[in-house]
Amino acid sequence: MTLENAAEAADLIHSKTELRPRIAIVLGSGLGAFADELEEAVSIPYEEIPHFVRSTVEGHAGRLVIGTCSGVPLVVQQGRFHFYEGYSMEQVMFPMRVFGRMGVDAVILTNAAGSLKAGMRPGDLMLIADHINMMGVNPLRGPNDERRGPRFPDMTQVYDRELQRLIDEEANGIAKERVEAGKDKTFKDFLHRGVYCALSGPTYETPAEIRLYRTLGADAVGMSTVPEAIAARHQGTRVAGISCITNFAAGMTDDIIHHDEVMEVGARVSEVFKELLRRVIKRI
Ligand code: HPA
Repeated sequence: MTLENAAEAADLIHSKTELRPRIAIVLGSGLGAFADELEEAVSIPYEEIPHFVRSTVEGHAGRLVIGTCSGVPLVVQQGRFHFYEGYSMEQVMFPMRVFGRMGVDAVILTNAAGSLKAGMRPGDLMLIADHINMMGVNPLRGPNDERRGPRFPDMTQVYDRELQRLIDEEANGIAKERVEAGKDKTFKDFLHRGVYCALSGPTYETPAEIRLYRTLGADAVGMSTVPEAIAARHQGTRVAGISCITNFAAGMTDDIIHHDEVMEVGARVSEVFKELLRRVIKRI
Protein backbone atom coordinates (compact mmCIF):
# COMPACT_ATOMS: atom_id res chain seq x y z
CA MET A 1 0.00 0.00 0.00
CA THR A 2 1.52 3.27 -1.09
CA LEU A 3 1.41 6.72 0.46
CA GLU A 4 -0.91 7.67 -2.38
CA ASN A 5 -3.33 4.88 -1.37
CA ALA A 6 -3.34 6.23 2.18
CA ALA A 7 -3.93 9.76 0.87
CA GLU A 8 -6.97 8.59 -1.11
CA ALA A 9 -8.47 6.98 2.00
CA ALA A 10 -7.67 10.01 4.16
CA ASP A 11 -9.27 12.35 1.59
CA LEU A 12 -12.48 10.28 1.58
CA ILE A 13 -12.63 10.38 5.39
CA HIS A 14 -11.96 14.12 5.49
CA SER A 15 -14.70 14.70 2.91
CA LYS A 16 -17.28 13.26 5.37
CA THR A 17 -16.56 15.45 8.39
CA GLU A 18 -15.03 18.74 9.40
CA LEU A 19 -13.40 17.16 12.44
CA ARG A 20 -9.63 16.72 12.24
CA PRO A 21 -8.75 14.18 14.96
CA ARG A 22 -5.24 13.92 16.38
CA ILE A 23 -6.02 10.77 18.37
CA ALA A 24 -7.02 7.38 16.95
CA ILE A 25 -8.44 4.48 18.92
CA VAL A 26 -8.66 0.88 17.74
CA LEU A 27 -11.33 -1.10 19.57
CA GLY A 28 -10.72 -4.81 20.10
CA SER A 29 -13.10 -7.77 20.44
CA GLY A 30 -16.06 -6.98 22.68
CA LEU A 31 -14.87 -3.40 23.24
CA GLY A 32 -16.66 -1.72 20.34
CA ALA A 33 -19.25 0.06 22.51
CA PHE A 34 -17.02 3.07 23.11
CA ALA A 35 -17.58 4.24 19.52
CA ASP A 36 -21.35 4.41 20.07
CA GLU A 37 -20.89 7.19 22.63
CA LEU A 38 -19.14 9.72 20.44
CA GLU A 39 -20.84 13.03 19.78
CA GLU A 40 -21.11 14.72 16.38
CA ALA A 41 -20.40 11.23 15.10
CA VAL A 42 -20.05 10.29 11.47
CA SER A 43 -19.59 6.63 10.75
CA ILE A 44 -18.07 5.29 7.57
CA PRO A 45 -18.39 1.59 6.71
CA TYR A 46 -15.05 0.10 5.67
CA GLU A 47 -16.50 -0.76 2.23
CA GLU A 48 -16.69 2.95 1.46
CA ILE A 49 -13.06 3.69 2.25
CA PRO A 50 -10.60 3.17 -0.62
CA HIS A 51 -8.20 0.23 -0.02
CA PHE A 52 -9.77 -0.73 3.31
CA VAL A 53 -10.70 -4.40 3.56
CA ARG A 54 -13.65 -5.80 5.49
CA SER A 55 -13.86 -6.96 9.04
CA THR A 56 -14.96 -10.60 8.98
CA VAL A 57 -14.93 -11.36 12.69
CA GLU A 58 -17.97 -11.57 14.91
CA GLY A 59 -17.76 -8.76 17.45
CA HIS A 60 -16.00 -6.40 15.07
CA ALA A 61 -18.42 -3.94 13.51
CA GLY A 62 -16.36 -2.88 10.52
CA ARG A 63 -16.58 0.86 10.43
CA LEU A 64 -14.70 4.00 11.24
CA VAL A 65 -16.39 6.47 13.56
CA ILE A 66 -15.21 10.06 13.69
CA GLY A 67 -16.64 12.14 16.48
CA THR A 68 -15.87 13.89 19.73
CA CYS A 69 -15.54 12.65 23.30
CA SER A 70 -15.54 15.41 25.94
CA GLY A 71 -14.97 17.83 23.09
CA VAL A 72 -11.85 16.03 21.84
CA PRO A 73 -12.06 14.90 18.20
CA LEU A 74 -11.29 11.22 17.68
CA VAL A 75 -11.17 8.69 14.91
CA VAL A 76 -12.21 5.27 16.15
CA GLN A 77 -11.79 1.95 14.41
CA GLN A 78 -14.76 -0.17 15.42
CA GLY A 79 -13.36 -3.49 14.29
CA ARG A 80 -9.85 -4.17 13.06
CA PHE A 81 -8.19 -6.38 10.48
CA HIS A 82 -6.32 -9.47 11.59
CA PHE A 83 -3.59 -11.48 9.91
CA TYR A 84 -5.57 -14.69 10.56
CA GLU A 85 -8.42 -13.43 8.38
CA GLY A 86 -6.06 -13.95 5.46
CA TYR A 87 -5.21 -10.29 4.95
CA SER A 88 -1.66 -9.24 4.19
CA MET A 89 0.25 -7.32 6.83
CA GLU A 90 0.01 -4.29 4.52
CA GLN A 91 -3.77 -4.52 4.70
CA VAL A 92 -3.71 -5.03 8.47
CA MET A 93 -1.47 -1.98 8.97
CA PHE A 94 -3.25 0.21 6.41
CA PRO A 95 -5.56 2.06 8.85
CA MET A 96 -2.44 3.27 10.75
CA ARG A 97 -1.03 4.60 7.49
CA VAL A 98 -4.29 6.44 6.85
CA PHE A 99 -4.37 7.87 10.39
CA GLY A 100 -0.79 9.06 9.92
CA ARG A 101 -1.81 10.79 6.72
CA MET A 102 -4.83 12.36 8.48
CA GLY A 103 -2.50 14.03 10.97
CA VAL A 104 -3.14 11.70 13.92
CA ASP A 105 -0.17 11.72 16.30
CA ALA A 106 -1.27 9.29 19.01
CA VAL A 107 -3.02 5.96 18.73
CA ILE A 108 -4.51 3.83 21.49
CA LEU A 109 -4.65 0.16 20.50
CA THR A 110 -6.96 -2.09 22.49
CA ASN A 111 -7.50 -5.83 22.33
CA ALA A 112 -8.82 -8.90 24.08
CA ALA A 113 -6.08 -11.14 25.44
CA GLY A 114 -5.46 -14.30 27.43
CA SER A 115 -3.53 -14.06 30.70
CA LEU A 116 -0.38 -16.02 31.50
CA LYS A 117 -0.24 -14.77 35.08
CA ALA A 118 -2.28 -16.27 37.90
CA GLY A 119 -2.79 -12.80 39.46
CA MET A 120 -4.09 -11.24 36.25
CA ARG A 121 -7.68 -12.35 35.95
CA PRO A 122 -10.49 -12.15 33.40
CA GLY A 123 -11.97 -8.65 33.64
CA ASP A 124 -8.62 -7.04 34.52
CA LEU A 125 -6.84 -4.69 32.17
CA MET A 126 -3.18 -4.83 31.15
CA LEU A 127 -1.24 -1.83 29.97
CA ILE A 128 1.12 -3.04 27.27
CA ALA A 129 4.67 -2.14 28.27
CA ASP A 130 6.37 -4.08 25.49
CA HIS A 131 5.63 -6.83 23.02
CA ILE A 132 6.98 -10.02 21.52
CA ASN A 133 6.16 -10.58 17.87
CA MET A 134 5.51 -14.30 17.39
CA MET A 135 3.33 -13.88 14.31
CA GLY A 136 6.04 -15.41 12.15
CA VAL A 137 6.54 -12.37 9.98
CA ASN A 138 7.64 -8.79 10.42
CA PRO A 139 4.89 -6.53 9.05
CA LEU A 140 7.46 -4.11 7.59
CA ARG A 141 9.03 -6.79 5.38
CA GLY A 142 9.19 -5.52 1.81
CA PRO A 143 10.15 -2.27 0.13
CA ASN A 144 10.40 0.70 2.49
CA ASP A 145 9.18 4.17 1.61
CA GLU A 146 11.60 6.53 3.37
CA ARG A 147 8.97 9.30 3.29
CA ARG A 148 7.03 7.20 5.78
CA GLY A 149 9.79 6.03 8.10
CA PRO A 150 13.22 4.43 8.34
CA ARG A 151 14.22 1.05 6.90
CA PHE A 152 15.35 -0.14 10.34
CA PRO A 153 13.02 1.41 12.92
CA ASP A 154 13.98 1.39 16.57
CA MET A 155 11.74 -0.77 18.79
CA THR A 156 13.26 -0.09 22.23
CA GLN A 157 10.32 2.14 23.09
CA VAL A 158 7.29 1.12 21.04
CA TYR A 159 4.79 2.07 23.75
CA ASP A 160 5.09 5.74 24.65
CA ARG A 161 6.16 6.29 28.27
CA GLU A 162 4.16 9.47 28.76
CA LEU A 163 0.97 7.81 27.50
CA GLN A 164 1.63 4.84 29.80
CA ARG A 165 1.99 7.18 32.77
CA LEU A 166 -1.29 8.94 31.94
CA ILE A 167 -3.20 5.68 31.56
CA ASP A 168 -1.76 4.31 34.79
CA GLU A 169 -2.70 7.44 36.74
CA GLU A 170 -6.25 7.49 35.40
CA ALA A 171 -6.74 3.77 36.08
CA ASN A 172 -5.63 4.24 39.68
CA GLY A 173 -8.04 7.14 40.02
CA ILE A 174 -10.94 5.02 38.78
CA ALA A 175 -10.01 2.12 41.08
CA LYS A 176 -9.95 4.44 44.13
CA GLU A 177 -13.29 6.01 43.26
CA ARG A 178 -14.86 2.59 42.81
CA VAL A 179 -13.82 1.55 46.32
CA GLU A 180 -15.08 4.83 47.78
CA ALA A 181 -18.40 4.44 45.96
CA GLY A 182 -18.69 0.88 47.32
CA LYS A 183 -18.58 -0.68 43.85
CA ASP A 184 -15.44 -2.66 44.71
CA LYS A 185 -14.77 -4.01 48.21
CA THR A 186 -11.01 -3.69 48.16
CA PHE A 187 -8.66 -1.29 46.50
CA LYS A 188 -7.70 -3.39 43.56
CA ASP A 189 -5.20 -2.11 41.11
CA PHE A 190 -6.93 -3.55 38.07
CA LEU A 191 -4.47 -2.13 35.58
CA HIS A 192 -1.55 -4.53 35.30
CA ARG A 193 1.50 -3.80 33.21
CA GLY A 194 3.04 -6.44 31.03
CA VAL A 195 4.39 -7.90 27.84
CA TYR A 196 1.91 -8.74 25.09
CA CYS A 197 2.86 -11.64 22.86
CA ALA A 198 1.21 -11.60 19.42
CA LEU A 199 0.48 -14.86 17.63
CA SER A 200 -0.97 -15.29 14.19
CA GLY A 201 -4.00 -17.38 15.29
CA PRO A 202 -6.71 -18.29 14.50
CA THR A 203 -6.32 -21.25 16.88
CA TYR A 204 -5.94 -20.48 20.52
CA GLU A 205 -2.70 -21.84 21.90
CA THR A 206 -1.92 -25.27 23.32
CA PRO A 207 -0.92 -25.51 27.00
CA ALA A 208 2.63 -26.42 25.89
CA GLU A 209 2.83 -23.29 23.77
CA ILE A 210 1.62 -21.18 26.67
CA ARG A 211 4.37 -22.65 28.89
CA LEU A 212 6.86 -21.76 26.14
CA TYR A 213 5.63 -18.16 25.82
CA ARG A 214 5.71 -17.72 29.58
CA THR A 215 9.36 -18.82 29.59
CA LEU A 216 10.02 -16.25 26.89
CA GLY A 217 8.66 -13.45 29.06
CA ALA A 218 5.06 -13.06 27.86
CA ASP A 219 2.34 -11.94 30.29
CA ALA A 220 -0.58 -11.99 27.84
CA VAL A 221 -1.29 -13.51 24.42
CA GLY A 222 -3.44 -12.29 21.57
CA MET A 223 -3.77 -12.18 17.79
CA SER A 224 -3.53 -8.50 16.97
CA THR A 225 -2.07 -5.10 17.90
CA VAL A 226 1.61 -5.75 17.18
CA PRO A 227 1.39 -5.07 13.41
CA GLU A 228 -0.43 -1.78 14.09
CA ALA A 229 1.99 -0.83 16.87
CA ILE A 230 4.97 -1.46 14.58
CA ALA A 231 3.41 0.55 11.74
CA ALA A 232 2.60 3.45 14.07
CA ARG A 233 6.08 3.43 15.60
CA HIS A 234 7.62 3.27 12.12
CA GLN A 235 5.84 6.43 11.02
CA GLY A 236 6.43 8.30 14.30
CA THR A 237 2.90 8.07 15.72
CA ARG A 238 2.86 7.72 19.52
CA VAL A 239 1.41 4.37 20.62
CA ALA A 240 -0.38 3.09 23.71
CA GLY A 241 -1.79 -0.42 24.11
CA ILE A 242 -4.39 -1.75 26.52
CA SER A 243 -5.39 -5.41 26.74
CA CYS A 244 -8.67 -6.48 28.22
CA ILE A 245 -7.96 -9.83 29.86
CA THR A 246 -10.85 -12.04 28.81
CA ASN A 247 -9.59 -15.47 29.89
CA PHE A 248 -6.74 -17.41 31.40
CA ALA A 249 -4.52 -18.73 28.61
CA ALA A 250 -4.71 -22.41 27.62
CA GLY A 251 -3.75 -24.89 30.33
CA MET A 252 -3.82 -22.36 33.19
CA THR A 253 -7.21 -23.72 34.21
CA ASP A 254 -9.20 -26.74 33.05
CA ASP A 255 -11.52 -24.53 31.05
CA ILE A 256 -11.52 -24.44 27.29
CA ILE A 257 -11.37 -21.08 25.51
CA HIS A 258 -14.27 -19.85 23.45
CA HIS A 259 -14.74 -16.66 21.43
CA ASP A 260 -18.15 -16.11 23.09
CA GLU A 261 -16.43 -15.93 26.47
CA VAL A 262 -13.94 -13.42 25.06
CA MET A 263 -16.83 -11.25 23.84
CA GLU A 264 -18.76 -11.60 27.07
CA VAL A 265 -15.91 -10.46 29.30
CA GLY A 266 -15.21 -7.58 26.93
CA ALA A 267 -18.81 -6.44 27.33
CA ARG A 268 -18.62 -6.87 31.12
CA VAL A 269 -15.61 -4.56 31.54
CA SER A 270 -16.96 -2.17 28.97
CA GLU A 271 -18.09 0.47 31.52
CA VAL A 272 -14.74 0.77 33.29
CA PHE A 273 -12.92 0.53 30.02
CA LYS A 274 -14.94 3.34 28.45
CA GLU A 275 -14.42 5.50 31.52
CA LEU A 276 -10.67 4.94 31.34
CA LEU A 277 -10.60 5.95 27.67
CA ARG A 278 -12.72 9.05 28.35
CA ARG A 279 -10.35 10.23 31.06
CA VAL A 280 -7.17 9.47 29.18
CA ILE A 281 -8.32 11.22 26.01
CA LYS A 282 -8.88 14.47 27.85
CA ARG A 283 -5.26 14.47 28.98
CA ILE A 284 -3.41 13.55 25.80
N1 HPA B 1 -5.17 -16.44 23.09
C1 HPA B 1 -5.06 -15.70 21.97
N2 HPA B 1 -5.83 -14.67 21.70
C2 HPA B 1 -6.78 -14.35 22.60
C3 HPA B 1 -6.94 -15.07 23.80
C4 HPA B 1 -6.08 -16.17 24.05
O1 HPA B 1 -6.18 -16.87 25.08
N3 HPA B 1 -7.98 -14.48 24.46
C5 HPA B 1 -8.40 -13.44 23.71
N4 HPA B 1 -7.67 -13.35 22.57
